[in-house]
Amino acid sequence: MDTRPIGVFDSGLGGLTALRELARLMPEEDLVYFGDTGRVPYGGRSPQVITRYARQDVAFLRTFDPKAIVIACGTVSATALDALREENPIPIFGVVEPTARAAAHVTRNGRVGLIGTRASIRSGAYGRELGRLKPGVEVTARACPLLVSLVENGRFRPGDIVAETVVAEYLTPIKAAGVDALILGCTHYPLMRDIIGAFMGPGVTLVDAGEQCARWVKKQLEWDGLRNQRPGAGRHRFFVSDSAGDFSELATAFLGEDVRGGVEQIDITAY
Ligand code: DGL
Repeated sequence: MDTRPIGVFDSGLGGLTALRELARLMPEEDLVYFGDTGRVPYGGRSPQVITRYARQDVAFLRTFDPKAIVIACGTVSATALDALREENPIPIFGVVEPTARAAAHVTRNGRVGLIGTRASIRSGAYGRELGRLKPGVEVTARACPLLVSLVENGRFRPGDIVAETVVAEYLTPIKAAGVDALILGCTHYPLMRDIIGAFMGPGVTLVDAGEQCARWVKKQLEWDGLRNQRPGAGRHRFFVSDSAGDFSELATAFLGEDVRGGVEQIDITAY
């Protein structure tokens, strides 16, 4: 048993979708979340800059002496996981491996779609992992940079004509490729699940990176004897690098729990 917190970070707000899953699966764990709201988005940046930012995010979370760190961000997981693992002697989990594993498991026809940020798609990390797990799998990948802005601006509900049009344009070639599984390889996309699911149709299983990662983390912590078995609900703390006010309003909507008052702004460049 290990009662230390689990650190979770993302380039911004989207990682709350992973935090929500972690909290649902492991309600007794203390969670410390850092959202780099002052530097979001990471998805259009170079691998060097993404890795530099991610190092600072991890350094900040390590000040809480976490027993593990979860990279909720698809972009960082696809770009900097190996570097972060080499440099930090604690378990660091990314979203790519568990998500690829789940997609390899659910696909029946061996055709998997993948959507993510430009950096995630460019990294080729999902394709490599899928190829290793299921040789011969055909991956149709597409970067969907506009989806992050739409979600950040609250434009993700069914009936939103702009969101539906953008989703249809991005996903048309993936649908045409005949995939039966689609990886939502970015923190923000689960919020668009209804629009994406409606467009792809019932024959396509949507694989949510945050959800798969949370399940994986829970299993790994159990195997390693690191779960917090103490009764009662864990404490959740939230930190951001831009104004805390904006974060708490949107975070409350995303998480379905009131985080007002529990959010602090920090200077991430100091780490
Ligand atoms: N968190 C990022 C991801 O999951 C999306 C937002 C960004 O581009 O920073 O890839």
